[in-house]
Amino acid sequence: MNAYENVIRLTNVCKSYSAGGQKIIGLDDVSLELNAGDFAVLMGPSGGGKTTLLNCIGGLDQPDQGEITIRGYSLSGMNDKERTQLRRTEIGFVFQFFNLLPTLTVWENIELPLLLADKAEGGQERISELLDYVGLLDRANSFPAELSGGQMQRVAIARALAPKPFALLADEPTGNLDSENGTRILDLMKQAAADFGATVILATHNPQIMEHGNRCWEIRDGRLSSTR
Ligand SMILES: Nc1ncnc2c1ncn2[C@@H]1O[C@H](COP(=O)(O)OP(=O)(O)OP(=O)(O)O)[C@@H](O)[C@H]1O
Ligand SMILES: [Mg+2]
Repeated sequence: MNAYENVIRLTNVCKSYSAGGQKIIGLDDVSLELNAGDFAVLMGPSGGGKTTLLNCIGGLDQPDQGEITIRGYSLSGMNDKERTQLRRTEIGFVFQFFNLLPTLTVWENIELPLLLADKAEGGQERISELLDYVGLLDRANSFPAELSGGQMQRVAIARALAPKPFALLADEPTGNLDSENGTRILDLMKQAAADFGATVILATHNPQIMEHGNRCWEIRDGRLSSTR
């Protein structure tokens, strides 16, 4: 596959929820295309639809209408097992609150997705490489509670990259960090997109992060508009 081939495509995706007898719009006719290596920033107010969009792309949630294809494969054509496999092997998630497992060490947190994705072979070397990459080789045996927020997020990025995913979906990854650590995380994700050829989609409500993306969208009331 050529590096610039389109890897994520959404066509007329709609998603609504019902809560308290009310219909709530999550996504309203969203279409987009992303290529390998794109660093896309998804900006929008609270409730705009950012998490819903990431969850649909990552197969955690399903649209009511429209189509999502990942590397040419339609998500709606997959069963639950296939979608789970796709998530484990091809897509890395990074969250605002890091979501590390507190009872596992840094090393074990990064190892877990390799075990789940059946990619444990050669994993030891990969984990060391990634720890070195995020600057935490000396903290392999620490537990998450012994790390700073910025360090926890660096572990989460190493964990997300471990199975060599083609896409990294990050939901407010800097939302819980000070600006210095936030910038470090953004730089690391950008570097990872370039070094590993991963496509990144980063959701945020911080307009300053827009300048980091080669692609930028705004999402509001579930409607997407492109700004770059
Ligand atoms: N499980 C659900 N049930 C009902 N409504 C939901 C559900 N999940 C999301 N919504 C609604 O869908 C809309 C989009 O929510 P979403 O979580 O995608 O927003 P967001 O842009 O990620 O917001 P934030 O910046 O606060 O995280 C909101 O109105 C929200 O209340
Ligand atoms: Mg959200």
